[in-house]
Amino acid sequence: MEAVLEDLLTADASAGETTRPERLVEAMRYASLGGGKRLRPVLVLEAAALFGRTDDGAAVAGAALEFIHCYSLVHDDLPAMDDDDLRRGQPTVHKAFDEATAILAGDALLTLAFDVIADERVHADAAVRLRLSRELARAAGIGGMAGGQMLDLESEGRERSEAEIRTLQAMKTGALLRYACRAGAILADAREDDVERLTRFGEIIGLAFQLADDLLDVEATPEMTGKATGKDAEAGKATLVGLLGIEATRSEISRLLTEAQELLSPFGEKAQTLSALAAFIAHRNH
Ligand code: IPE
Ligand code: IPE
Ligand code: MG
Ligand code: MG
Ligand code: MG
Repeated sequence: MEAVLEDLLTADASAGETTRPERLVEAMRYASLGGGKRLRPVLVLEAAALFGRTDDGAAVAGAALEFIHCYSLVHDDLPAMDDDDLRRGQPTVHKAFDEATAILAGDALLTLAFDVIADERVHADAAVRLRLSRELARAAGIGGMAGGQMLDLESEGRERSEAEIRTLQAMKTGALLRYACRAGAILADAREDDVERLTRFGEIIGLAFQLADDLLDVEATPEMTGKATGKDAEAGKATLVGLLGIEATRSEISRLLTEAQELLSPFGEKAQTLSALAAFIAHRNH
């Protein structure tokens, strides 16, 4: 994945760009290379492999999704949002560069993602690429990540019910993880019922992923996570940990893991890596 990301960030003569402002390119590279668990692209790769697609088309689609994820982190860390100084163990993009550059690096990464998902290597059939592109827009947009980020900010310091928190988390974090699993199945030409099964798997691990993130904010150290901890309670974020406590959140994560792994049971041994990824997401310590 590192090599694919690096390659896609390198100037492409066919793109007809006469000038690539050096500072913007540097900020985009800083935001997306050398760090990060690459969980979303790995899910794309593994979901595609489950249905027999193992060439680099899945990695290219995974890179498009990772660029959106990296952009979301750059903007999430801005002073106007979570105001964080540390990300992946390094100063955040607005600290290493400046706020305007961070905003533009996010914009350019988001835009690059749609260039990349349209790459012929993703799928030979343009109709499939169009489907993946539209679904990516929806996962990242108003009904997905960006919308969820709005709900997250609006909920600061306000009471939220469990159902409201679940919706917020399904959008801000779940939508991209859901897309990862779904896109892998789609680009491998899986049957629609299998696409739906992988979609459900992605939704469940998406929820578990954000619950684990919220637990880490309470229990981990910045050395473990590479980002500041203890910030959600301070900012009055609406989290299940805040509402129900640590133990209830832990048992919810275990319940979700069981449900996710059960969804994979029809695939048997072939889904071993995806099943292990679900366990990693549930029990991660970084
Ligand atoms: C962090 O995502 C942001 C959330 C959605 C909670 P990751 O924990 O996947 O971040 P990286 O990519 O590994 O840094
Ligand atoms: C971020 O959630 C979700 C995104 C869409 C980036 P958080 O704000 O909890 O993520 P961290 O803890 O800063 O990584
Ligand atoms: Mg946030
Ligand atoms: Mg944050
Ligand atoms: Mg967090």
